[in-house]
Amino acid sequence: MSTQPAAIATASARGLKIPRHMGVIMDGNGRWAKARGLRRSDGHRAGVEAVRRTVQLATEYGIECLTLFSFSAENWRRPADEVKFIFTLLRRFIASDLDRLHRENVRIRIIGVRDTLEDGLKTIIEEVEDRTRNNTGLDLIIAFNYGGKVEIANAARAIARKVAQGELDPEAVDENLVAHYLDTEGLPDPDLILRTSGEMRLSNFLLWQSAYAELVFVDENWPDFDEAVFVKALRSYSERDRRFGGINT
Ligand code: IPE
Ligand code: IPE
Ligand code: MG
Repeated sequence: MSTQPAAIATASARGLKIPRHMGVIMDGNGRWAKARGLRRSDGHRAGVEAVRRTVQLATEYGIECLTLFSFSAENWRRPADEVKFIFTLLRRFIASDLDRLHRENVRIRIIGVRDTLEDGLKTIIEEVEDRTRNNTGLDLIIAFNYGGKVEIANAARAIARKVAQGELDPEAVDENLVAHYLDTEGLPDPDLILRTSGEMRLSNFLLWQSAYAELVFVDENWPDFDEAVFVKALRSYSERDRRFGGINT
């Protein structure tokens, strides 16, 4: 992509560090809509535009992995019509953007509980992953019907089953093995987790993987996310002193 070197060069000239893996808790669609006298669904629709901008920015700035939190295991508590609309948006996004993302060499992976999704959606997800599996550009991970606690519990169950079947020695259970059983298997842990809309919590996003992530919170609502907010978040990230328990001399 022609803009790629330019954006990376500008970022490094500005002293910005680029996270290898950035996770985003895309929050504030409802408040964005309410502030404009619109429906929550309008906010979610505008949120999809912000997703497109963010994928583009991540590619331009040389981020390797981008994980977007788009529907949490707890979001089922919302009114059924809102849940249904968010599901519709995922389907529409895939239908409208998959060809282009594939051409742009983006590899797409969907994490979260899949078993309980309707068969049609499961099939679509599998097709998306299969089609883009060998792409070597941006890793785009969509956390859909995802909850960190469920993910860890599922990993624990799978490990327990192996032990019970005599296929795994309990002494072999360590951090690396647990990570291998998570949905994010094979991905680097997020360096930066960004949340929009001023809320300062993880809401069950990447609990295990965020152990040493830098957390950045911005006040803008997700539909207002653009390059200026992105650069502001990168600046905040770049100023952090990441020690991982050690000391920097
Ligand atoms: C984020 O926006 C989108 C999802 C959680 C699906 P919200 O819908 O949570 O918007 P607010 O927090 O109500 O403003
Ligand atoms: C977190 O946002 C989930 C997603 C962004 C998909 P929520 O709006 O659901 O989080 P809470 O309920 O405010 O913690
Ligand atoms: Mg919210």
